[in-house]
Amino acid sequence: MATSASSIVDLSGATYCVLTGASQGIGRAIAVELSKYLGPKSLMLLLARNKVELAKTAELCKSPNIKIVYESMDLSKASGPEMFDVIKRSTEGYKVSDFATTVIFHNVGSLGNLSVETERMEDVEEMRQYYDLNVFNVIKLNTQFLKVFEEIEDRVVIVNVTSLCAIKPMSGMASYCSGKAAREMYFKVLAEEKKHMRVLNYSPGPVETSMIDYVLAETVNANLRDVFMSFKSQGALLKPEITAKKCLKVLQQGKFSPGGHVDYFDDE
Ligand SMILES: NC(=O)c1ccc[n+]([C@@H]2O[C@H](COP(=O)([O-])OP(=O)(O)OC[C@H]3O[C@@H](n4cnc5c(N)ncnc54)[C@H](OP(=O)(O)O)[C@@H]3O)[C@@H](O)[C@H]2O)c1
Repeated sequence: MATSASSIVDLSGATYCVLTGASQGIGRAIAVELSKYLGPKSLMLLLARNKVELAKTAELCKSPNIKIVYESMDLSKASGPEMFDVIKRSTEGYKVSDFATTVIFHNVGSLGNLSVETERMEDVEEMRQYYDLNVFNVIKLNTQFLKVFEEIEDRVVIVNVTSLCAIKPMSGMASYCSGKAAREMYFKVLAEEKKHMRVLNYSPGPVETSMIDYVLAETVNANLRDVFMSFKSQGALLKPEITAKKCLKVLQQGKFSPGGHVDYFDDE
């Protein structure tokens, strides 16, 4: 769903960025793409659990303009104060007001248990754990980010990595679709209330990452398996680098309305 233009996101000044799910896949690709544009005295905080892979992402992002910090954090379990501390700590030695722009990429995501048919879902604890990582803690992290950057609220940019599944049902993915829908709507409401913040829901298209292999390995839904098998066999999966470029292009051209859902395939 393409949307009308808002103001551009200028990354050429001192920019603070936090990116979740930065250890692989789309998150790593966004980090690398982002690092090409950040101006002098920028700072990047990369979060995920796998520290070895985070270090690799940090290496790929190396630039004289950017200080890169990475921290292993289980975002399904981290408390609000832990999230606040990790962001606050990363800004040590900087004055928050010196950042011209501050961006958070909520890229973390998981698929949940694909081995239970939708009509047989009843394990609420499992559903809760899914929502903890994919919805509740995304909101919680966003709140900590906004607390740290309260004094420069008008320079805040929020990117939620969403999915077509947030707006279109996909068989066999009830947790994923409902989680993405809830997460996207939270950001839409925030954008409605905070007109001076720039909030983008970016849907990356079908991308060749471990998520695709997970679907094929785990799903009990024949339709879902067929869809993903045909993506693979027809070579229809995007490379993470390609969708990351598009995400940065959308941001830098400001081609999104507040809380707008922009898909990779819009305007392609
Ligand atoms: N691939 C697609 O076709 C596609 C399509 C539409 C939308 N998306 C969305 O794009 C985003 C990235 O997906 P991807 O395909 O790149 O998936 P991926 O390769 O599986 O990457 C997921 C990332 O999330 C991190 N993560 C998972 N659980 C975590 C936890 N408990 N705590 C902290 N970090 C955690 C992983 O790092 P660690 O394992 O190191 O923690 C990893 O960096 C997701 O939001 C996904 O829903 C993907």
